[in-house]
Amino acid sequence: MSKKVLIISASPRKGGNSDTLADEFARGAKEAGNIVEKVSLCDKTINFCKGCLACLKCGRCVIQDDAVEIASKMHEADVLVFATPVYYYSVSGQLKTMLDRANPLYDTDYAFTKVYLLAAAAEAEVSAVEGSITAIQGWVDCFSRCKLVDTIFAGGVNSVGEIAGHPALEKAYQTGKSV
Ligand SMILES: Cc1cc2nc3c(=O)[nH]c(=O)nc-3n(C[C@H](O)[C@H](O)[C@H](O)COP(=O)(O)O)c2cc1C
Repeated sequence: MSKKVLIISASPRKGGNSDTLADEFARGAKEAGNIVEKVSLCDKTINFCKGCLACLKCGRCVIQDDAVEIASKMHEADVLVFATPVYYYSVSGQLKTMLDRANPLYDTDYAFTKVYLLAAAAEAEVSAVEGSITAIQGWVDCFSRCKLVDTIFAGGVNSVGEIAGHPALEKAYQTGKSV
């Protein structure tokens, strides 16, 4: 059955390494007949969560910016894919800010049951992505109906375009196909 797949690309570099992983995942998921949308956070205005917790009382955020629509798309998606560069052994600030702003989804009838993490880092060792996995796993654990299914890590890539030919691209495509 066709699934709604929402890919959130969280690098400030369009066409960068994690964004390329996102495109390969999208290509596979589309070929398999799913409805796929990619949102690039670098095109959006996403302010920091104020911590007011009004969202838990009235179900929506008091800040009117692009995060509201993205959180609504997240609510409707069956599959969430987070593509991020590794920044100081965690996810990018853009992604962390978006996850904070998705707080209105907490305790709602959200659709997503599967989450994937796509990450790129300068260091080749898998240990470079562990902090990013912990960050995403922490968010996923707050949404009891969903789980972090897989992480696709492209290590040893730094400049834009360096990911070309990296085996993680094929893995992203194949995982997208099987989503
Ligand atoms: C602010 C900043 C922090 C970074 N921190 C790390 C890090 O902790 N470990 C690492 O291996 N690479 C680190 N990098 C390198 C990026 O992860 C690497 O360039 C990656 O390929 C960028 O992905 P992108 O093209 O999707 O933006 C950092 C880069 C920047 C700009």
